[in-house]
Amino acid sequence: MLEARDLYVGYYKDLNILQGVSFTAQKGKITTVLGANGVGKSTLLKAIYGFLRPSSGEVLLEGKNIMGTPTYELINRGVSYIPQQPGIFRWMSVEENLEMGAWPFKRDKARIKRKLEENYERFPLLKDRRKSPAGELSGGMQRMVEVGRTLMTDPKLILVDEPTAGLAKLLSQEVYEILVRLRDEEGMTIILVDQEIRQALKIADYVYVLELGRNKFEGPVEEFTDLKKALWV
Ligand SMILES: Nc1ncnc2c1ncn2[C@@H]1O[C@H](COP(=O)(O)OP(=O)(O)OP(=O)(O)O)[C@@H](O)[C@H]1O
Ligand SMILES: [Mg+2]
Repeated sequence: MLEARDLYVGYYKDLNILQGVSFTAQKGKITTVLGANGVGKSTLLKAIYGFLRPSSGEVLLEGKNIMGTPTYELINRGVSYIPQQPGIFRWMSVEENLEMGAWPFKRDKARIKRKLEENYERFPLLKDRRKSPAGELSGGMQRMVEVGRTLMTDPKLILVDEPTAGLAKLLSQEVYEILVRLRDEEGMTIILVDQEIRQALKIADYVYVLELGRNKFEGPVEEFTDLKKALWV
């Protein structure tokens, strides 16, 4: 579904954080990217989504190069991104937050309504709170709003950066369950960047470990049942 080849990416000229990272996400699977703080996990997602331009390497979506593709075009091609920093509009209602996700087709009221209904079917809890200011919801439900907002554009591939950072364990559990449902019930492809190694390994199909801006290990999740291997980061 998505392939990154030999990516060199940085924030400053001649200073690459990623130094030749290669990566493949298979359709309908959860691929997780693990690694210590500052190793470049978020940088990898930003490069895939076009927020950072690699100085070399390429990113292919279903075999086609997507480097330099504008965000709305990526969205139209079924890619979406949930960044590490929570992006909820706290003073707006849950429903208004969800509607924000429909900006690429904001004039198509019928489609917005349909997508809202789909989200309320997926997440009945959001329906109950649709008129509440999103800032009043629990941290876990706020993440649910963010996921719901992303789903407004019918993504086939979702990039998720540390979706449970700062959440209590029980709420984190709910967020991971949502990702599993999106894979199992809706066939979505998910790239999950996470520091919650144990949790990520519970739901992932394939694992990458980065070290110092390079690939360190990769393999099907079964090879990581020996947790120590993943913890050598
Ligand atoms: N906007 C930025 N400008 C300059 N340097 C940055 C910027 N964002 C990140 N960096 C640097 O790039 C490196 C990799 O950062 P990145 O955010 O990709 O790490 P990460 O693996 O996602 O870490 P974490 O697990 O803490 O989220 C770090 O050294 C960081 O200081
Ligand atoms: Mg990060």
